[in-house]
This record gives sequence, C-alpha cells and structure tokens, in this order.
Amino acid sequence: MEFRFRPTLSILLHALLLFQFVSESRARDFAKDSDNNMHEVLKIQMKEQSITSPNEPLNPQLNIFFTPKDLKIGKKMPLFFALKDPSTSPHLLPKDEADSIPFSLSKLPYLLDFFSFSKDSPQAKAMEDTFFHCEISAMNGESKFCATSLESMLDWTREILGFDTKLDVYTTDFIKKSPVTLQNYTILQKPKEILVPKLVACHTLPYPYAVFYCHMQKGENKLFKISLLGENGDRIEAAAICHMDTKEWNHDHVAFRVLKVQPGSSPVCHFFPVDNLVWVPSSSM
Ligand SMILES: *[C@@H]1O[C@H](CO)[C@@H](O)[C@H](O)[C@H]1NC(C)=O
Repeated sequence: MEFRFRPTLSILLHALLLFQFVSESRARDFAKDSDNNMHEVLKIQMKEQSITSPNEPLNPQLNIFFTPKDLKIGKKMPLFFALKDPSTSPHLLPKDEADSIPFSLSKLPYLLDFFSFSKDSPQAKAMEDTFFHCEISAMNGESKFCATSLESMLDWTREILGFDTKLDVYTTDFIKKSPVTLQNYTILQKPKEILVPKLVACHTLPYPYAVFYCHMQKGENKLFKISLLGENGDRIEAAAICHMDTKEWNHDHVAFRVLKVQPGSSPVCHFFPVDNLVWVPSSSM
C-alpha cells in the first residue's frame, strides 16, 4: 500500500494553541521555564552554518547530512534526531507581544535583565549567538529573516513566495520515537520529491521564546519526504533538502567533512530537525 505524504498542519494548530496559552502569561514568567531547555537547544542549532576545525571530533548531532546517492530504498545510515518536548520548548509569542520586546544585539544587556539571565550564563551566550545569526548579512543568493512570531514568519514567507500564493508546510514528523537520538535508520520507501519552484526553510534558534531563522537560497534545491525506520523501532516521516550546487559554500563547511567529499564538488542534503518548518507554494491551486 502506498503511504501518502501530506504537509502537516498539526504543528500550526499546536502553535495556535500555544498562542492562547502564552497570551495569558508574561515573557518574564515563561523565560524561566525555558531556562533549562535553552542549553540543550543551543547545542543543536545552526548545523547548516556550522564550521568546525579539521581536528575536532565530529559531533554526533552532525549525523543529518547525506548525498542524493543515498536516496534509495533500503539505504541504512546513522542519523541524529533530537527529541522535542513541546511542553519544555520555548513558546511562540503573539506578534504584538513579540514586537513589544526589543530583539537586537545592542539591547542584550536590557534583555538579560528582562529575562533574568546573568551576563555570563549559557543563556546569555545563546542569545548572543542568535543575534549574531540574525544580524549577519545574508550570503550571496540568500534571503534571510529572523521571525519572532508565527505571523511575522508568514508575512516574510509570503513576501518571498508570493502574496497570492497558498502555502504548504513540510516538517519532520515522529510517528514513533524512542529516546535514542542517534541510531541507524533505513529508508523504507522510495523518497518522494516535492517539486517546488522555491521554498523557505525556517530553523529554530535558541532564545527564551520561539525564534525562527528563515531563509531562501537561490539555485537548485530539492525537497524530499523520506520514510525512515530506526533500528530501535522508531518511525519518522522526515523532511530533507538537497542543495544541488555547493560551489559557493565555504570550503570549511562541516557537511563536506561529514560526507568526506571535496568541498564544492557534491550536492549536500540534510534532514530537518522536528521543529523546523519548510514553506512551499501550494501545489493544489
Ligand atoms: C550502525 O550500523 C553499523 C553497522 O551495521 C554499526 O557499525 C554502527 O555502530 C551503527 N551505528 C549506530 C549509531 O548504531
């Protein structure tokens, strides 16, 4: 029987529920809840951008990369999928509340005081890193935006994909997940390519409330939905992207080391973590 993939909307429903929940509280209060979580989140972020020195042992969390050659039924590979507990993840803020809080590196001292973090805390470092990623200028051929609310994410996505375009969203979905984050997974079915003219990928960044780094890269990108079965019985319907042209990429990009390919010589694909969102123009117009 063929398994039909469809973009999940449950995450949006979930987001709307969180809206209601969050609007009843103040940023200061839930900032404390996310305190422990921040450190964990910090470690998982921005692998796509990450650059490591050649002698550093590879972080297991970098087991997200592959090449188009791997996209076949029965292919087995070790992959890392962080567990996501929505009850401890940073909450989405409604736009008006998010817009009432400054979001810039220049306001960091004020924000640390606002969220009650000391300036030497891991949270302060994480916030500084987040501002770094948000404030650094986009690469050639890249458009980027940091969204501090779902509404601002959608506004920017529509600017990029078209104001009159209906949007679909793709995510990585856990059908069944054990606590084992790194394990061997086998591709169960022929990976399904989602043919899209362009897409916007939104990655979570560590911050006391939900912040997404959204970007669109020019050039050929292929979006896939891939059925995975883990050796611990985990079932994941994963979203993944292949960047077909990596010639412009930094030669020290960690993906080339993980894949053991000459920098710029090979397409680079990666799975999306479970809390990322990939926006595409809807195919059912
Ligand atoms: C995956 O399987 C290979 C051999 O089949 C094994 O050497 C490796 O340790 C496994 N990796 C993980 C993360 O379990």
